Amino acid sequence: MAAGFTPLIELSGVNKHFGELHVLRDIDLTVGRGEVVVVIGPSGSGKSTLCRAINRLEQIETGRITIDGVPLPEEGKGLAQLRAEVGMVFQSFNLFAHKTVLQNLMLAQLKVRKRGKAAAEAKSHQLLERVGLEAHAAKYPAQLSGGQQQRVAIARALAMDPKALLFDEPTSALDPEMINEVLDVMRGLAQEGMTMVVVTHEMGFARSAANRVVFMADGQILEDRVPEDFFGHPETDRAKDFLSKILKH
Ligand SMILES: Nc1ncnc2c1ncn2[C@@H]1O[C@H](COP(=O)(O)OP(=O)(O)O)[C@@H](O)[C@H]1O
Ligand SMILES: [Mg+2]
Repeated sequence: MAAGFTPLIELSGVNKHFGELHVLRDIDLTVGRGEVVVVIGPSGSGKSTLCRAINRLEQIETGRITIDGVPLPEEGKGLAQLRAEVGMVFQSFNLFAHKTVLQNLMLAQLKVRKRGKAAAEAKSHQLLERVGLEAHAAKYPAQLSGGQQQRVAIARALAMDPKALLFDEPTSALDPEMINEVLDVMRGLAQEGMTMVVVTHEMGFARSAANRVVFMADGQILEDRVPEDFFGHPETDRAKDFLSKILKH
């Protein structure tokens, strides 16, 4: 490992089944502080389950997951705290429809971080500015485009001062012209040193922003390489096949 590499997210020997389906198979993965790891692979390979396990939205059966050296908490109080420290951004933005953008950003700050109202409001405005949406603070999610809603969801995750952010196909539900405005925000975060695990089919983002590409198939990590090597010289037949399919269109 490179000098200065400090592990932030560590999975070792992680296994999970859904009934008969072995959805995570002996997963070992370390994400260093400030690293951007892009996870790619065919549909059904376990990418979302991997993210959900890191955020403890799914329980694992065997193995160990630690964040900053601390094992994931069991049910209960520790979980809300964990989810604040490891924010997650989903394909479907999951904003509260009956709350304004500002209220969406303030809610968890008040409830989970126990910030005062003024501090939460100030932080919200600062983050809206950062994602280019300050002018939309008083709107409801339905009044925004998909790309704008996803930027609000990113700001909401950032409002928790997370140690890391997980993105599960953050641009897959967006019209093509809105994808870049979201990827630009993510690139900015990466440049500022945010630790990120990103499930995406955006290979341009993977090439330009990722420190490593993790390729999954059938619940296993088959490759874990720097982008140049992965895209230039995929080692496994599964990865070669996958790349030939997605790079063709
Ligand atoms: N809650 C669940 N119950 C049963 N099967 C599930 C559940 N969630 C996911 N799966 C199955 O687990 C496999 C991996 O799913 P997922 O992690 O969503 O893959 P990916 O994100 O790579 O498309 C798929 O076969 C999916 O159908
Ligand atoms: Mg998925």
